Amino acid sequence: MFKYKLFEEIDSTNTYLKNNYSTLEDKTVIQALHQTSGKGRRGRTWLDQGSSLMFSILLKEKLEGQNLELLPLLVGKSMVSTLIKEGVDAKIKWPNDILINDKKLVGILLESVFQDKLEALIIGVGINLNDESFPLDISDKAISLSQVTKRKYDKKEFLDKFLNEFEKDYESYLKGDYSFMEVVSSHSYLDGKKIYLNYYGEDKHVVCKGIKDDGKLIVVDDGKELYLNSGEVTLEKNYS
Ligand code: BTN
Repeated sequence: MFKYKLFEEIDSTNTYLKNNYSTLEDKTVIQALHQTSGKGRRGRTWLDQGSSLMFSILLKEKLEGQNLELLPLLVGKSMVSTLIKEGVDAKIKWPNDILINDKKLVGILLESVFQDKLEALIIGVGINLNDESFPLDISDKAISLSQVTKRKYDKKEFLDKFLNEFEKDYESYLKGDYSFMEVVSSHSYLDGKKIYLNYYGEDKHVVCKGIKDDGKLIVVDDGKELYLNSGEVTLEKNYS
């Protein structure tokens, strides 16, 4: 069961959990209606137009011995399953995004807290739920669920649907059941695409073959397979 707390406005739900993890219980979920400093990956910001669903989940227990590389993909799988139940087919762009029609619907930001050992993991999720439009500079890259279905969504209702999926998926994952990776693989956005990436400072053009069971991205570079983990690469644009 998740413990839930709603903020009307906060700097960032991820930052809140980072600062307060020691006094909060495992599986605390923080939702904010507005974020003043919403964080994205690689120092970017998460734009808050008031219409996205923004929340973070705190995980503190049973983390030792888990393949934590798989967690963003597990969250992606739970999100894809939630969307399927809403009648929408979405893709997982390894490792952290959910796309529809080549545009970003969901961003996931995982952060960890170490103090001698791993104390906490924070999973931050931003979903473009009800946006009617986006600023010009991102309008060709972002999409909202409402733009796809022409419906409006209740944020808490959608969050509860997602948490139901995630709770089931997370329990199985903790037991070592990685069958969720079948859904991840069958919804992988990058498969077959040419991608341009930066691998330890070297720019490479490679072709993506799929996602391995351990969460690594399989790419082919000059006829040779490489297995990449998310910390090692920066995916650039130019998919084809
Ligand atoms: C990304 O796409 O780069 C990740 C975006 C993650 C945004 C969410 S919104 C809720 C949570 N709090 C934050 O500050 N960021 C995440």
